[in-house]
Amino acid sequence: MTTDNTAAWDQFAEDYQRLAGITTDAAHYGPDIATEAELRLLGDLKGRRVLELGCGAGQCSIAFARAGATAIGIDSSAAQIEHGRRLAEAAEVRVELRRGDMADLAFLRADSIDVAFSSYAFQYVEDLGRVFRQVHRVLRVGAPLVFSLPHPAYFLVDEDSGTPPRIGGSYFERGPQRYEWGGVTFTAFHHSFSELYMGLARASYRVDLIHEPEPLAGAPRSWFWREAMEWMPRTIIFRARKEGN
Ligand SMILES: C[S@@+](CC[C@H](N)C(=O)[O-])C[C@H]1O[C@@H](n2cnc3c(N)ncnc32)[C@H](O)[C@@H]1O
Repeated sequence: MTTDNTAAWDQFAEDYQRLAGITTDAAHYGPDIATEAELRLLGDLKGRRVLELGCGAGQCSIAFARAGATAIGIDSSAAQIEHGRRLAEAAEVRVELRRGDMADLAFLRADSIDVAFSSYAFQYVEDLGRVFRQVHRVLRVGAPLVFSLPHPAYFLVDEDSGTPPRIGGSYFERGPQRYEWGGVTFTAFHHSFSELYMGLARASYRVDLIHEPEPLAGAPRSWFWREAMEWMPRTIIFRARKEGN
């Protein structure tokens, strides 16, 4: 587990939840883009077992439970999970929220999950191949892993460099990258497009969808909004299906 990020999320959780204002009505893929209500990448969730990796305060898992799924969320931050328990109680839905590392799914039986999902958490994981392999074990054959993370190109944009935005880093840089929110330091990792695609292929998934959503037109902007998001997709979404064991 990346303990510095765990501590950072514990410290920042309450501010993050207040600033981000994430809905529990529909699963979200990132700031200022369409939600699952419009994108429909997960299919009908009624009666399905859905695993959310890096669930934060579990807003997406709550949305899955509302859609009739058995929702299981895992996150390394106790403060995020605690916030999620309060949200689930307020929403009057049952969601299993667990504190733990998403790369350790030993608590789940093989071939027991119908949909695996992650929104904006994979950038905090250095060894994504390990996560892909763990998720592969617990998914049923043909079942999807759907995830979003910062677009590998947007990751390099210097958001405060003006219009048009400038590149602030090298695409080839693979080391940890630190950034600050509200005085709290987080560590993220730049996963290139080929690393994501080939990582999935190597772990025996077949990628069946890649989406680079544009910002929603005419919608009120979130706390995350920057003009740079008009120039470059901030988010990339992958859907990959488990091939045989
Ligand atoms: C940007 S938040 C996104 C949370 C949630 N998916 C959402 O969209 O609101 C990233 C989350 O990933 C979690 N996280 C980071 N690394 C993790 C790991 N290795 N295992 C489990 N959770 C992790 C953090 O604790 C944090 O709650």
